[in-house]
Amino acid sequence: MCNFRKFFAVVALIFISNSILADGSAGYYGYGKPATATEIAGWDIDIRADGQGLPPGSGSVEDGEVIYEAKCAECHGSFGEGVGQFPVLAGGMGTMNAQRPLKTVGSYWAHASTLWDYIRRAMPFMQPESLETDEVYALVAYVLYLNDVVGDDYVMTQDNFTDIQLANREHFVPDPRPDVHNTRCMENCKNAADIKIVSIVRRPEPTPAEVALAAEPAKPHAGEKVYNQYCIICHKAGVAGAPKKGDAKEWNTRLEAGIAVVTEHALKGYTGNSGVMPAKGGFTQLSDEEVRQAVQYLVEPNE
Ligand code: HEC
Ligand code: HEC
Repeated sequence: MCNFRKFFAVVALIFISNSILADGSAGYYGYGKPATATEIAGWDIDIRADGQGLPPGSGSVEDGEVIYEAKCAECHGSFGEGVGQFPVLAGGMGTMNAQRPLKTVGSYWAHASTLWDYIRRAMPFMQPESLETDEVYALVAYVLYLNDVVGDDYVMTQDNFTDIQLANREHFVPDPRPDVHNTRCMENCKNAADIKIVSIVRRPEPTPAEVALAAEPAKPHAGEKVYNQYCIICHKAGVAGAPKKGDAKEWNTRLEAGIAVVTEHALKGYTGNSGVMPAKGGFTQLSDEEVRQAVQYLVEPNE
């Protein structure tokens, strides 16, 4: 059923884009505009291994500890040991050849630039891109300290950044596999007009009843909005051990305890066998009622 809804949504989109084209607006495909230098600068925030792209700033291990305790330790543990299923950030030195390597920033990562970029771009998990430049420097310094890469009096700046050498940096190799297996044709090639793309998508014709149903606007579930805004980041893909929405088997097992218990866990927070469910998913601004409705929506059997 869901697939038909999607199918009709796609059809609707095609109609919409066609009507944009009919407008006759300028550009190669008839829509869009070149990105401005400012827009590009907003996206162009990567840091290279040689330090290129680093913004000016600095941060100490000492300051990093305070920020880390406030914003990171809840998931990654005070020593980077990882709480529940959240990633371990420190340790594992010398385990890369072991049966089960413990891959951390210290034991596995090749360059400190990855750490800088990752923290600025993606952490804390709930507020990505919320950290100030100096906070990022301090957190990078602190995570390196947790891995015994720097001492407790270390202060990281854009100038001494490239002195950092991670233990595993020599053990990455370029992937030699080609993207495509055919050799490139440079002369006497096939006439392009004779080449046909033969990819066919087969889908059954919808029955009249399904067509009628797809035309009906779907009634939004009261909890859907909260779920889509807050819970989806973990519960859609099963991040950090979260039970996936639509995994009927998993939810049936959990619901054996009763919906009241499961709801209470979502409200108050819960550490089970698969990970840590922060109270209200970490969004304490949500009312109990909103979370209750989101739970109802989450445990429904459909995806
Ligand atoms: C609510 C829990 C949570 C908080 C708080 C949090 N993280 Fe994370 N962190 C995660 C999760 C989950 C991942 C894995 C994300 C993924 O793989 O997509 C992760 C990944 C990472 C990684 C990459 C680890 C690896 O080996 O791939 C680093 C580094 C990291 N976090 C640093 C931080 C720092 C620094 C802070 C504080 C500013 C922070 N995190 C706060 C949940 C959290
Ligand atoms: C940071 C990730 C994360 C977010 C965000 C999150 N959850 Fe969870 N949730 C988890 C994890 C991990 C578990 C599994 C805990 C376990 O059983 O070990 C879980 C479990 C649950 C459970 C099952 C509890 C039980 O008793 O089995 C419910 C219900 C739930 N979450 C509801 C929600 C709702 C509602 C939201 C949004 C308001 C939400 N979660 C947001 C990670 C998250």
